[in-house]
Amino acid sequence: MIRKSSVRLIIVYVLLATLFSCTSSPEKKSLSIEQKIDSVLSQMTLEEKVTMIHASSSFTTGAVPRLGIPEWTMSDGPHGVRKEHGRGWVGSESPEYFATYLPVGVSLASTWNPELGYTFGKVLGEEARYRGKDVILGPGINILRTPLNGRNFEYLSEDPYLISKMVVEYIKGVQDQHVAACVKHYLANNQETDRNTVSVEMNERTLREIYLPGFAAAVKEGGVYTLMGAYNKFRGQYCTHHEYLINKVLKEELGFDGAVISDWGAVHSTLEALKFGTDVEMGTDLSQGEVKNYDKFFMGDTVISLVKSGVIKESLINDKVRRILRIMYRTKVIGGGDRGTGSFNTPEHQAAALKIAEEAIVLLKNEGSLLPLNKSSVKNVAIIGANANRKQGGGGGSSQVNAKYEITPLQGIEKMLFENVQVTYAEGYEVARDAKANANKIKEAAEAARKADASILVCGWIHGYTDSWNDNAYDAESVDKPNMFLPFGQDELINAVLKANPNTIIVIMGGGPVDMTKWESKAKAILFAGYPGMEGGTPIGKIIFGELNPSGKLTMTFPKRLEDSPAHAIGEYPGKDNVVYYNEGIMVGYRYFDTKKVQPQFPFGHGLSYTTFLYENLQLTKGDNQSVVATVTVRNTGSRAGAEVMQLYVKDIESSVERPDKELKGFQKVFLQPGESKDIILTLSVDAFRFFDEKKMEWVLEPGKFQVMAGSSSRDIRLTKEIDL
Ligand code: BGC
Repeated sequence: MIRKSSVRLIIVYVLLATLFSCTSSPEKKSLSIEQKIDSVLSQMTLEEKVTMIHASSSFTTGAVPRLGIPEWTMSDGPHGVRKEHGRGWVGSESPEYFATYLPVGVSLASTWNPELGYTFGKVLGEEARYRGKDVILGPGINILRTPLNGRNFEYLSEDPYLISKMVVEYIKGVQDQHVAACVKHYLANNQETDRNTVSVEMNERTLREIYLPGFAAAVKEGGVYTLMGAYNKFRGQYCTHHEYLINKVLKEELGFDGAVISDWGAVHSTLEALKFGTDVEMGTDLSQGEVKNYDKFFMGDTVISLVKSGVIKESLINDKVRRILRIMYRTKVIGGGDRGTGSFNTPEHQAAALKIAEEAIVLLKNEGSLLPLNKSSVKNVAIIGANANRKQGGGGGSSQVNAKYEITPLQGIEKMLFENVQVTYAEGYEVARDAKANANKIKEAAEAARKADASILVCGWIHGYTDSWNDNAYDAESVDKPNMFLPFGQDELINAVLKANPNTIIVIMGGGPVDMTKWESKAKAILFAGYPGMEGGTPIGKIIFGELNPSGKLTMTFPKRLEDSPAHAIGEYPGKDNVVYYNEGIMVGYRYFDTKKVQPQFPFGHGLSYTTFLYENLQLTKGDNQSVVATVTVRNTGSRAGAEVMQLYVKDIESSVERPDKELKGFQKVFLQPGESKDIILTLSVDAFRFFDEKKMEWVLEPGKFQVMAGSSSRDIRLTKEIDL
């Protein structure tokens, strides 16, 4: 049984029974949660309150057994329940703790299918519930500002609208299982370099239009129960205790009534944490194995002295405890009610991981319809690349998942082949710190490709580290990538293999773009697989051999070169003297590329299909409250069933301020049989046309003409119409 220790369960059971006894009378039952909290608070000592607002081990907060309040148990992470750490950071490798490893954040978002966001959250919530977790530390939703960010794989997109649509469903999926989601990292944690010290400077418009909307949607539409403050500073103050971001924007303006949890070790001052919105201080006391020194945390014993000496009012502590208790009641950690038992690594969960992966893989290029390959004419296959044979789930830092199993690309491709097909696997490159091109491995790979009638090369980043936490070539927490070039000499390998067999299919694994300029023009077919989770190899194989029609779309622009992307073009990464100025402002991702007319390698929203789609009849009509109703017909004009993501972009034609060439304000994924068409009707609320006016400090609609564009990517606009507002 993989629950909390049985001793702990018995204690919790007895204590809960005590609490029920005082809440189960008809009179108590009718009390609102707030009234129940009043009653609990009135019975608590100051010491008991303080024990609840800081860690009691690396993933729990203190309990108040006398009142039936258990420890609050948390776990990473965004795409699977993390391997068990227990108290004092003691790990467990027991297979009982192996979890469903879902596709990572950027892969989930590549589906452009919010329903799958819910499916994803539900799997996570059920597994968290089963494993006795009360809070799951995800989703991570920071904007993809630079291709170098080591944690881009955990996040969703460069676009706040797409993030908002995906995150709301993810949160609902988790929280419907009586587990709190924890949206992170609030705010502007867009690089890992200097993450503990760097201060982000951006203007108010950039905050409101780009970096805040995902969090605002999580709170207002998703009803998220908890939120994690980021490590970095914002305008000179640490985000985890931030007067403006937390007290003013989050709690006052957005009305967030849940708990703000610090990132691990992100609190730097008791007084600031108390006054500027931190409700729970988390972190790991590494000074010893067991639980002793957590009371010495900033929000530990010092708080008791400050209240007793009158420096801090107890009402401030009450508010923090109230927020924690509120979420405990809502998720039925206390107060009774059926919380459900959750479930763990079920066939349904594995099927969900597969479904998400199937829709997440993006076909970037398919010259001469090289793909799909016809499996009946394939006799000799070369599968090349260390990533073809590598499991990725255990890497990446705090989001690591011990997957119950992981189908690699090699296995997924092999599954597709008839029995007598000859498969040659060549590693092609060595995954090792600072490894350079390996001539022997390249020669072996090129020979295999030359002899093969189907050649597939799986390259990319790796998810994790080769040997240590400061190893900086990969998709991993705490370090950024040094540049956008593929590591381990993969460019040399790809060139040699393409020379040996120009029909080689290139599959890229990774959390974001790579510089392909050394070989892209020679490659006919390129797939971007992200990190597609424990079932990911299967859809890679199916797409290559045509059993599945790809339908993923990029959630971030793939620049040709790093210096083409906005933060790098203006030299504002990673900052100087611990300050990074986001001087590109709102021109992030495709907003920059399209407005400044910089040609990307592959644009935002791009993703090919084995069928073709025709867009017809864009119509715009005015709806209620200055909204616009857009109707588009999408028709499958090819011979295969497939799915298209119809994207709606808006442009303000005349404006008193600079506005992007286009901004995503609506999308819908439609599944169509050959010849089938569907009318898509989307309402663009007034918000789709507004900008944030810094002088007035409010959202403004400037009357005039707007363009609405329906497209298959930000650079493949099929229909355009104007409307006067
Ligand atoms: C990460 C968080 C994570 C926490 C707990 C921190 O290093 O930034 O995202 O939830 O650790 O593992």
